Amino acid sequence: MKHLISSEQFTREYIDKILMKSRIVKINLMGKPCIDDRLNNSIVATLFYEPSTRTRLSFESAIMRLGGKNISTENAKKMSSAIKGETLEDTIRVISGYCDAIVLRHSDDDSSERAARVSSVPIINAGAGKAEHPTQALLDAFTIWENKETLDGLKICISGDLRHGRTIHSLVKLLSLYDNVEIFGVHRDLFELPTKYIKYLADKGITYRPYNNFAELPRDLDVIYHTRTQTERFQMSMEYNELVITPDTLKKFDDVIVMHPLPRVTEISTEVDNMSQAKYFEQAHNGTYVRMAILLDIFR
Ligand code: NCD
Repeated sequence: MKHLISSEQFTREYIDKILMKSRIVKINLMGKPCIDDRLNNSIVATLFYEPSTRTRLSFESAIMRLGGKNISTENAKKMSSAIKGETLEDTIRVISGYCDAIVLRHSDDDSSERAARVSSVPIINAGAGKAEHPTQALLDAFTIWENKETLDGLKICISGDLRHGRTIHSLVKLLSLYDNVEIFGVHRDLFELPTKYIKYLADKGITYRPYNNFAELPRDLDVIYHTRTQTERFQMSMEYNELVITPDTLKKFDDVIVMHPLPRVTEISTEVDNMSQAKYFEQAHNGTYVRMAILLDIFR
């Protein structure tokens, strides 16, 4: 049984396989609605204890495009037996008897590990607290690869809330597998990348350089991966000054692309949306293709 819990599970070989498959799925889908019915007769549950638009709907779209069926709880915190005091473990024990895989989003950092320990079907982590969001990292890698043709040797800036952003944490682990990658961090005080991720990168020979504005970054930067301040994950009394990307921010870079896992609030001005550098909506659309590739691999 194959659980997908953390980007730490990834190898370059696995990522290459997912990128290639996503490309094939994407090309095929542009022409016709369903290219593979490998999930025929399978049921996949999407169990979401936290809000989601893209992740849940792109997974559900991926399941259906592959001929599978979906059972879903979009507000499991209130609408499942969790409100009656049932533990996540008991819920997973029960639901794993109703389906062939579970896509799980939960506010606890260790939720997917705990679910995997008791589940009789594969668990796919669709966001665990502030810890990880590995399927997002794969679709981020796909978007970078489509735009830059490689993941090796890139200069990548991660910015915004590096402390609480699970997409950042999964992405840096994934990027650590590539050669000569340089990672720059741009953040306000209190939103720094936790030491354990800096150490993780250092152990893989990747240098990480923190800054507090975009102006100090090199002209030949390849990617800016900006993120939302995760206000739901800290005390609102914390004072902070949003780091905003505007068309001016991008002027100095020769060939940068701007990514964001979305939802965007005010941290990227809407004037950037129509610029050729803006890739965040394309990135969100890649979610379905990449999640189809992930499901095809799990159900092979
Ligand atoms: C992200 C998440 O849930 O971590 N959204 C997503 O899955 N695309 C990012 C966020 O909520 O800021």
